[in-house]
Amino acid sequence: MTETYADYQFEKLLSDASGESGIGIGCLTKKDLEVFQEVIKSQYIKVLSKYDKASANPDLAIDKYHETQIAKSGAHNEIWTLNNRHICKELVTKLTSTSFFSALSEQLDWSRILDAINLGYPGIDFRICRPKPYLDGAPLHCDSWFYHPLNKFSAPTTDFKIKRVKVWFSLHNDKNTGFRYVKGSHKEKYDVSYEERDGLMKGNLDEKKYKLKINNLIGECGTFIIFNDDLLHGGFSTEKNTRTSIEFTLLVKSDE
Ligand SMILES: [Fe+2]
Repeated sequence: MTETYADYQFEKLLSDASGESGIGIGCLTKKDLEVFQEVIKSQYIKVLSKYDKASANPDLAIDKYHETQIAKSGAHNEIWTLNNRHICKELVTKLTSTSFFSALSEQLDWSRILDAINLGYPGIDFRICRPKPYLDGAPLHCDSWFYHPLNKFSAPTTDFKIKRVKVWFSLHNDKNTGFRYVKGSHKEKYDVSYEERDGLMKGNLDEKKYKLKINNLIGECGTFIIFNDDLLHGGFSTEKNTRTSIEFTLLVKSDE
């Protein structure tokens, strides 16, 4: 774990995201990881307490969430919809006050966290995924597929070209982060079929049609990645504990 973010680190990660692999890998500082973990715990307790006070026990470590009554019930899927996975404005401010975000904006010429659905503040979401035998991981997809015209996502207007990259942080894990991806897939073309799910147009991939070499991302808590909008990725179920992550779409200047 690093103590600080190196100069040009974010430029290098962005160049990795547009390079051969389509993904750049870094790690939060210990201090920032603590803040990120506090934020996700506060948001998680806030949401959970609306549904089941007993399960929203602040003394229970978040990676033991799968032991709660609510996690073992069908209510899990009803609770953790996208609407309940947005980080609230106050906690977004706490996150963006960390040295991670200061280094990001200092090192990049221009960048913005996308607010695709007009929350009125930077859109940052979290995920909570139970371990096996639950199947909480997302199927393989590219984030660019979400920008279907019917989803009517917003983007700022600029007088220069911009592009989207995804930034994803593993905050609780048992070395397996639960993130899987196909290196170099942003340079390939795949047939996608669309259907409406959870109020959004979502793309489906017939994985069996392609010989995909899938990599599982291994890393300690605090591992983060910046990856290409066209990179195939998804989730997988880990062995022992509940895993958590935070993600947002970053807009950066593009010279492509
Ligand atoms: Fe995604």
